[in-house]
Amino acid sequence: ESTLGAAAAQSGRYFGTAISAGKLGEAAYTSIANAEFNMVTAENEMKIDATEPNRGQFNFTNGDRVFNWARQNGKRVRGHTLAWHSQQPGWMQSLSGSTLRQAMIDHINGVMAHYRGNIYAWDVVNEAFDDSNGGRRQSNLQATGNDWIEVAFRTARAADPAAKLCYNDYNIDNWTWAKTQGVYNMVRDFKSRGVPIDCVGLQAHFNSGSPYNSNFRTTISSFAALGVDVQITELDIQGASAQTYAAVTNDCLAVPRCNGITVWGVRDQDSWRSGDTPLLFSGSSKKPAYTSVLNAL
Ligand code: XIL
Repeated sequence: ESTLGAAAAQSGRYFGTAISAGKLGEAAYTSIANAEFNMVTAENEMKIDATEPNRGQFNFTNGDRVFNWARQNGKRVRGHTLAWHSQQPGWMQSLSGSTLRQAMIDHINGVMAHYRGNIYAWDVVNEAFDDSNGGRRQSNLQATGNDWIEVAFRTARAADPAAKLCYNDYNIDNWTWAKTQGVYNMVRDFKSRGVPIDCVGLQAHFNSGSPYNSNFRTTISSFAALGVDVQITELDIQGASAQTYAAVTNDCLAVPRCNGITVWGVRDQDSWRSGDTPLLFSGSSKKPAYTSVLNAL
């Protein structure tokens, strides 16, 4: 196959990218994005601050730009993200307790209703674990009670039964890290108690502080063994080593329930960490990492 999306499809998987609404007018950007990828995540446009800038007033202008571009070009969409400590609008940052809990529920219902039936998977909860100790991140949502995550998932299941519901996080790639074990134990607990969760998103932002480790495959297979799909949701690799990109791809392919890979942007210049040149394209050129991924798929 000659594109990432088509090559991934040979094994029933997808290959996606993050898309920014502000770049959809650039032909150099959209021509690569349209040719190569068959799953789309809005880089910022479906986040809480974008979709509910004032409490109870939803705005889907930019989310719909990304969504409509994807659908018009035959691509599926991952929804990102409904409950998160970051990129909250000011009104939400100032809430607490039962008022914030209700605002979270109302937000999930409002956004999921708008896209109901049209989203492949939602990152229902993003980055809820602490970086070092394996416990929960201290956030305004966590302060509403430890059950906030399961409430978010139960709300999401009722709001759109067709969407897969994912927990998404970074630094849960290395099986030996406490954070990975913390998330693993939560997913195991949810599965044992019937809390609706369908997938775990491994962001996979690899850099010198949190490098790729060959135990990544153990992480993927261990989550999958709990009965959830695993998706690599925001892949970028500082320096874009072709060897490391191939290893990540092979790790996903080795686990049947690892059903897709998304890179966090199209070209290096589009990356949130552009100085790391972490992606598969530079300008209009395919980098060595592109070829290694394509060959691995
Ligand atoms: C990043 C975007 O790429 C940036 O444009 C934005 O300024 C900040 O957020 N984890 C996530 C993503 O789940 O939503 C983040 O995206 C990167 C880290």
